[in-house]
Amino acid sequence: MKPTALITGASGGIGYELSLLFAKAGYNLIVVARSEDKLEDLRNELDGHPVTILPQDLSEPGAAQVVYDKVKELGLNVTVLVNNAGFGLNGLFEELPLLDQQKMLQVNVNALTELTHLFLPEIKAARFRSIPKGVLNIASTAAFQPGPKMAVYYASKAYVLSFSEALVEELKDTNVTISALCPGATETNFFKTAQAEHTKLVKQTMTPEAVAKSGFVGFVKGRRVIIPGPANQTMAYAAKLLPRSWAAKAAHYMDQ
Ligand SMILES: NC(=O)c1ccc[n+]([C@@H]2O[C@H](COP(=O)([O-])OP(=O)(O)OC[C@H]3O[C@@H](n4cnc5c(N)ncnc54)[C@H](OP(=O)(O)O)[C@@H]3O)[C@@H](O)[C@H]2O)c1
Repeated sequence: MKPTALITGASGGIGYELSLLFAKAGYNLIVVARSEDKLEDLRNELDGHPVTILPQDLSEPGAAQVVYDKVKELGLNVTVLVNNAGFGLNGLFEELPLLDQQKMLQVNVNALTELTHLFLPEIKAARFRSIPKGVLNIASTAAFQPGPKMAVYYASKAYVLSFSEALVEELKDTNVTISALCPGATETNFFKTAQAEHTKLVKQTMTPEAVAKSGFVGFVKGRRVIIPGPANQTMAYAAKLLPRSWAAKAAHYMDQ
């Protein structure tokens, strides 16, 4: 039996590139997103590699359980869970529709937490010699400071980082790897979806290929926190040193 990676948000951007890397490393794939046609494109690009497509809107309450049940109906087990699906919304907290922000929390936080809870037992039990198993959560450099004009998004990524680091400690006596990938601005559909294409954030970006490679290599090496690129590493380090109020002002400046 081959190891299997379940990757959410595999229809584009960082998740698409991570899917290619996990497939190349020998993992069968289970890919989740709303855009079934783009998941089909991924399967076509992988030309014969085993890819199971599970179209699912993760903003729907209970979606993680639906995904888990479908995986079990298919008789599959997950070796690596990549919680990548996520999105941001740009604007003042009080002016952004509450329902949209709740959907963001459902995808970025609740689905990620529920999928981890559902699949962790079988990930722990998986027996593969010399092939990594665990959970790769996609956080962001947004996790390191408060983010005015993207308040809920930044807070959701702080949750992902804190949650991941806590699991590292809980699982330290197992061979389960838990990693939080914290990309900075990356050239994907993220800024269009977030309506943040006008901000300074888009001026210094990395490619999704480079971010995914950094995440994949870091996960294989068992790193707990992976920050791709020296500029993002410097920024994350500076955010840790600054008083929180200054870090919030810096994030606000970048959002203009
Ligand atoms: N790009 C950046 O600058 C940046 C920086 C730091 C962190 N990140 C994080 O990286 C991750 C990937 O984002 P990206 O940059 O690759 O953006 P992207 O190109 O917009 O990709 C987002 C992925 O998430 C999926 N997704 C969004 N809402 C979903 C929903 N309701 N149900 C299921 N899937 C959903 C999308 O698929 P469908 O639309 O097909 O459903 C897509 O595959 C996110 O967690 C994001 O927060 C991005």
